[in-house]
Amino acid sequence: MQAIEALLRRYSARALQEPAPDEAALRLIFQSATRAPDHGRLRPWRFIVINSEERARFGEVLADHLRRTKGVASEEALERERRKAFRAPLIVVVAAILRPDGKIPEIEQILSAGAAAQNMLHAALALGFNAVWKTGGAAYDAQVKTELGLEPKDAIVGFLYMGTDVEGPGSLTRPDGQEFVRYWR
Ligand SMILES: Cc1cc2nc3c(=O)[nH]c(=O)nc-3n(C[C@H](O)[C@H](O)[C@H](O)COP(=O)(O)O)c2cc1C
Repeated sequence: MQAIEALLRRYSARALQEPAPDEAALRLIFQSATRAPDHGRLRPWRFIVINSEERARFGEVLADHLRRTKGVASEEALERERRKAFRAPLIVVVAAILRPDGKIPEIEQILSAGAAAQNMLHAALALGFNAVWKTGGAAYDAQVKTELGLEPKDAIVGFLYMGTDVEGPGSLTRPDGQEFVRYWR
């Protein structure tokens, strides 16, 4: 597939199942990630892999976040959080290890991690998989970051749910790029 065709076809699967990208595929996905633009060569990226066997533990982290932040959470709501970890056979947490006092603004370090995440979505698709970018309140929670091995100052830019799509692209209408273009005169 031509690169431009791949860019024009990217979509998020509605549901993901096995197989997840294997070690060889993940290597290529992470290699693609590190092609992200990176002001100051800070290499702010961190990719935390949550394998199939670790999903239950990650689900507990999500449920615990809900319990802490919502005050009262029904068992049903907690179970819904736990199940989020099972939306795909593999999850990659994409984070930026932030250097707050350098000359590169934090926003640029976060944008670089976001660009890495986008490269990963495309790499996953190019290799025959699919990946879906999610966040939610847990991504911005200091304790969740700590439990994932990050520091509260760092930024989680996304939870990338990876696996295989069985349904194909849905009916989401795609805007024409020209709609967003303004020529400055
Ligand atoms: C930073 C970021 C965070 C997102 N978080 C969520 C999320 O928590 N839940 C969700 O349903 N979609 C989330 N999305 C949107 C989906 O990843 C997806 O792009 C959207 O459903 C549109 O589908 P498409 O990728 O096929 O265009 C997020 C996207 C970005 C860029």
